Amino acid sequence: MSAPTGHGASGASGATSPHHNVVSNAPGPAGPAAGTAVELPRSSTERFENPGLPPHVDRMADTDAKAAKRAERQVASLFVLSIVGTLLTLVGYFVVPLRDDTSAAAVLTSNVLLGTGLFLALFGIGTGAVHWAKTLMPDHEEVDERHAIEGSAAEQEEAVGIITTGVAESGIGRRPLIRNTLVGALALAPLPAVVLLKDTGPNPEGVLAETIWRAGDRLVTDPTGNPVLASDLVIGSVVHVQPQGIEESSHFLDEKAKAAVLLIRLEPDEVAESALAGSYAGIVAYSKICTHMGCPVALYEQTTQHLLCPCHQSTFDVAADCKVIFGPAARALPQLPIEVDGEGYLVAKSGFSEPVGPSYWEREKDEKRMSEESA
Ligand code: FES
Repeated sequence: MSAPTGHGASGASGATSPHHNVVSNAPGPAGPAAGTAVELPRSSTERFENPGLPPHVDRMADTDAKAAKRAERQVASLFVLSIVGTLLTLVGYFVVPLRDDTSAAAVLTSNVLLGTGLFLALFGIGTGAVHWAKTLMPDHEEVDERHAIEGSAAEQEEAVGIITTGVAESGIGRRPLIRNTLVGALALAPLPAVVLLKDTGPNPEGVLAETIWRAGDRLVTDPTGNPVLASDLVIGSVVHVQPQGIEESSHFLDEKAKAAVLLIRLEPDEVAESALAGSYAGIVAYSKICTHMGCPVALYEQTTQHLLCPCHQSTFDVAADCKVIFGPAARALPQLPIEVDGEGYLVAKSGFSEPVGPSYWEREKDEKRMSEESA
């Protein structure tokens, strides 16, 4: 395979032009005297002679059949190394599964095997191809003149001819050892991707839509876990709460990330009409997870009753059912309906009636299902 060079592109080398810039040179120790007119070349093509191509140097494999054979074996070895790497990745994946054993030693072993295997798989193919091109493929220089990008039919035909010649010159037909090992390496290389992608499933179904909140769950402060008495909240209070007992859930951190709620007490007549049914004596509860990209909406301005998300400044109006009044968020913060139990503690009246947090694929489907269930 030949590599075009740009040496021949400067075919106008040595040409002279009648147009020259004439400047008055400043005086200098070795330069012309002050005020002497100096002619400067107008373009770079006038400055340098075309250096031409350096003399061709044969490689060892060009002249020595033994060296060519050795290079062939080296290339094949690199492709075999790639195959070994791919197999090592598969072995690491299946022999050290992390579902049952999540100890540090198992994770370390798995990472080392997967990382080393993938490295060898890709490194073997890459270096094998480069070594093949540098040692065995044809090494003659060619000059390729610059021309318009769009080729004529004849040029396209010529291009096809060049590719065909390149394939023939690569020796892929004459060197079955290289060809077969390359085919093997390329065929096996995608396998790790296939098995690793398997771990992205199964479909989480309603996991993104549902939170752990259920009717009757007490609202407790985070992180102290104290239940909240409705009578303890004064106008303007803001409390970060979560459902009682959330620590015992099987995926505690995942559940906590979705279940964070802000409890705010307004004057009862300031609560939006649409939020009244889910409020208690002016106390309202809204998801703390921003509907833009999921940051915690944590800044409450008591005088304006605005909640601000610090990430991209989405602003929600608590007195207007937490609708968006500024910023990139597209939806209001979902309300958690609340009431009090027999002891005066705040409890959830039900879970959220729509998914909390940012958008995701199939959110509309989940939203429809949840609103049908809560109707
Ligand atoms: S995450 Fe809240 S505004 Fe972007």
